[in-house]
Amino acid sequence: MNHNKNLIVTCALVYANSDLHLGHILEQVQADIWVRFQKMQGNTCHFICADDTHGTPIMLKAEQLNITPEQLIAQVHDRHVSDIKAFDINFDHYYTTNSPECQELVYDVYNKLKQNNKITTRKIHQLFDTEKQMFLPDRYVKGTCPKCKTPDQYGDNCESCGATYTPSDLIEPYSVISGVKPVLRESEHYFFKLGECEDFLKNWLNADNRLQQEAVNKMQEWLNGGLQDWDISRDKPYFGFLIPETTNKYFYVWLDAPVGYMGTLLNYCKTHNLDFNQLWNNENTDIYHFFGKDILYFHALFWPAILNYSGYKAPTKLFVHGFLTLNGQKMSKSRGTFINARNLIDSGISTNLFRYYIASKLTNKVEDVDFTLDDFVAKVNSELVGKYINIAARSSSFLNKIFDNNLASDMTDQTLLTHISNEADSIAWYYQDREYAKALRLIMSLVDEVNTYVDNVKPWLLAKNIEQHSELHQVCTVLINAFRYLSIYLKPVTPSLASDIEKFLNIKPLQWNDINTTLLAHKINPYTHLITRIDTTMTDNLMNLAKEDISKQNISANTITNNTDNVNKVEYEPIAETINIDDFSKLDLRIAKIIDAKAVEGADKLIQLTLDIGNETRNVFAGIKAAYNPESLIGKHTVMVANLAPRKMKFRISEGMVVAGGFEDKKSGLYILEPHDGAKPGMRVR
Ligand code: 2FM
Ligand code: ZN
Repeated sequence: MNHNKNLIVTCALVYANSDLHLGHILEQVQADIWVRFQKMQGNTCHFICADDTHGTPIMLKAEQLNITPEQLIAQVHDRHVSDIKAFDINFDHYYTTNSPECQELVYDVYNKLKQNNKITTRKIHQLFDTEKQMFLPDRYVKGTCPKCKTPDQYGDNCESCGATYTPSDLIEPYSVISGVKPVLRESEHYFFKLGECEDFLKNWLNADNRLQQEAVNKMQEWLNGGLQDWDISRDKPYFGFLIPETTNKYFYVWLDAPVGYMGTLLNYCKTHNLDFNQLWNNENTDIYHFFGKDILYFHALFWPAILNYSGYKAPTKLFVHGFLTLNGQKMSKSRGTFINARNLIDSGISTNLFRYYIASKLTNKVEDVDFTLDDFVAKVNSELVGKYINIAARSSSFLNKIFDNNLASDMTDQTLLTHISNEADSIAWYYQDREYAKALRLIMSLVDEVNTYVDNVKPWLLAKNIEQHSELHQVCTVLINAFRYLSIYLKPVTPSLASDIEKFLNIKPLQWNDINTTLLAHKINPYTHLITRIDTTMTDNLMNLAKEDISKQNISANTITNNTDNVNKVEYEPIAETINIDDFSKLDLRIAKIIDAKAVEGADKLIQLTLDIGNETRNVFAGIKAAYNPESLIGKHTVMVANLAPRKMKFRISEGMVVAGGFEDKKSGLYILEPHDGAKPGMRVR
């Protein structure tokens, strides 16, 4: 399958305002497996990704954190790079769109589009926040749905009745940033004349199976509906590249994001002695983009058209994937089903096991992939640990005890090995075709055959009789060779594991054509532990870490939406009247462990806490629902006022209170106290 081509492979650029979540990892793992497979075959492949750093959300988030956008994107970049590494995603270059190369190419593309008469300007009306002095993107306007009258709906569609509309249709619209009622204002915008690209796009789409059938159908729907020109400018204030010859217009983030694929490659070419234009436009170069179904429109319509009309080659193929769901549910922060990449790393679960599980569910269709926690635990334990690794563990113990870790110098019966190596082309084809689930099923059926062989030849019996040791040596040599073949097949999916196996087998990094050779008269290393089984305490740990992150993010989300302007203008409350130590000691503050926390039906603000204070448990209602997701609090320690007179609330008696930090207006969030490690329930705070 070596085709002497240059491959450029990309993953969708990642927004630089939050951590990677498991949905990003799904895509990057899918692409990484493909690229590793290509490289194992000896193909030249440039695997590229970057942070997508421009746009309004990033500008506002930096403002809220009181740092510059450049500082924000630098911090996020470091976090992304470290998560990517932990999942063994082996990008040849991970860069940023906020780079001179990206700017150079955005200007180049724009100037060429202009020369080709594909840019036009037109005045449009848009909602404007007079306090914040900015035009509001749809997501930053909320109001009452004009159709079903549900309050607090976003400017583009109603989550309650599904109606779509423009922000100016909302009843009583307000700016999510400042809360003021926005006004309609006129502004000149720049457009890419997508409407004129229909013939090109139809031809592009009809060549060479560029897209999966599901995506072709979508494209046809869009093409039949007629293509609208695309608004590529945004007014000041904006974090992005200024449009040439203007002082207040910027390129929309979705123009410079895909150009960021090229910008990243250009930067890479500079340090790798490659000619960017030569590489991109060469007929021997194939360009492949991996991305999710939600951004098909950008990649299948705008992007090929923009490339074509600026003199660059349009993509060879687009590989679209579905979403990652969790236990059958959409990943959602509000439902507590959202997992960051870090949560999995921190949970102690090996990222290679997650890669294996995802691969075992991936096809080349635009289908969602479910991360089913129980099934994950059962599957990786049974297939990888129980069946695959066990082959090495069982055979190497005899080699170690009886043969000083040396393999035999020949194998008289190679039936099993020939059978395994005969499947190399089928497995290669499944990888090439992104049918990883099929590849792994076939590989696992071979693993089963090897285990059946072990059960039949019963090496433990051969070991008992010294006259059968030469047969045992043959059997163990066959098994180690079988294990090596299976490791070649699995290497694109579980690369770190493969590298540990290479050390154990004392061999050079495995390539695909190593399937044509065997290991004989070779000394391996003593077997060392290769993978750890997982159990449900690890997946519980994962979900707890995920929930903690969600509750932290809930707090900052509150701050973003309510308080962007007030961050720097806090009114500090004056310090209260002086008290003496006796006044203080009237207050009995205790360390409490939160043993249960739940929302209170019919009360938007309250969380009902069950607190362990050593010799008793207390029921306390706390007005912290806006700041915390109840489940994220369970198991944590905090501080309570234990001698406050019980208060009868609407629901039940509240037997004390927890204390929390917050400014008077409560808009900057509320933060309950947490003692340092070691504090025990019932300790008095003095
Ligand atoms: O949807 C997203 O997450 C975007 N940051 C993807 C950009 S992909 C490309 F065009 F750069
Ligand atoms: Zn509605």
